[in-house]
Amino acid sequence: MTQTLTLRRPDDWHLHLRDGAMLQGVLPETARHFARAIIMPNLVPPVVTGAQALAYRERILAALPEGMAFAPLMTLYLTEDTDAADVAAAHASGLVKAVKLYPAGATTNSHGGVRDFAKVQGVLEKMAEIGLPLCVHGEVTTPEVDIFDREAVFIDTVLDPLRRRIPELRVVMEHITTEEGVAYARDGGDRLGATITTHHLIINRNHILVGGIKPHYYCLPVAKREKHRLALRAAATGGEGRFFLGTDSAPHVDALKEHACGCAGCFTATNTMQLLAHVFEEETALDRLEAFTSLNGPRFYGLPVNEATITLTKGDVAAWPAKIFTEAGPVTVFDPGFPVHWHVNA
Ligand code: NCD
Ligand code: ZN
Repeated sequence: MTQTLTLRRPDDWHLHLRDGAMLQGVLPETARHFARAIIMPNLVPPVVTGAQALAYRERILAALPEGMAFAPLMTLYLTEDTDAADVAAAHASGLVKAVKLYPAGATTNSHGGVRDFAKVQGVLEKMAEIGLPLCVHGEVTTPEVDIFDREAVFIDTVLDPLRRRIPELRVVMEHITTEEGVAYARDGGDRLGATITTHHLIINRNHILVGGIKPHYYCLPVAKREKHRLALRAAATGGEGRFFLGTDSAPHVDALKEHACGCAGCFTATNTMQLLAHVFEEETALDRLEAFTSLNGPRFYGLPVNEATITLTKGDVAAWPAKIFTEAGPVTVFDPGFPVHWHVNA
């Protein structure tokens, strides 16, 4: 018997599209399946002002192939110099849907991020007042803290104090990777949401390190122990409204991934829906996939759900390109390491 699954069209609540030739190459991979995405602002230089977000949005729409429908939901990169009035105006115009907090030095292109939270208190208070969410890359950057502990330490030493200072602020814990992250998100009340990536539901740290180093599984936050992956699976497939999909699909050309100092990021735009159907089926939760990909995110962001639908079918082993050949260079598509039988109907 053929199994099919029709869902409201999904959205991606955390996506890196880059710019120029890379944007051109990877945008169709997302737009093929997703109606909207929260677009990360960590370009070089970062998207800091409303004017920069507007110009970036226009570049994204210009790169969209004819006949594809896709709405980029723009974000601003929070710096210690961010102007609260500019943020408020960009939100009031409908352009900007969130502000992104990168602790300085936490990840790709984050050196302009926040060091001294006192300097952003005014902006955060304004965001709380107008209901604009803060998307948080939740890792400390202190050299003394082990990379596998950086999320849990961030929650205790940065995120929780910040949320106590500004309880009205809506916060999304981006790409949570630990059971501590899941537990904190669960207890956080209605103003707290959390995104979970595709790859963190599939790999643990062994995938990166056992049998030779696998640079295409390296991302930030880095995948943790198996018990954390299982906690993420339970959260994503459990039907709780506070957890939703943010793929964190983060393309880097192969030359920069397969490198002595390889870039962080997994590229999952091409096969996320197929992989999620596989994961949710394994957890006997196919009936909850739509909540994770298409309902919970819009509810948190106060946006309507998509009217269009997407249909997945279970059949022969699915195939997708191993690489996307962009004008910037080839980008390797995330390989789950097991056969997947779910297809997205054209
Ligand atoms: C992201 C990137 O490459 O921009 N990399 C990643 O590993 N996720 C940055 C980020 O979201 O941390
Ligand atoms: Zn990211």
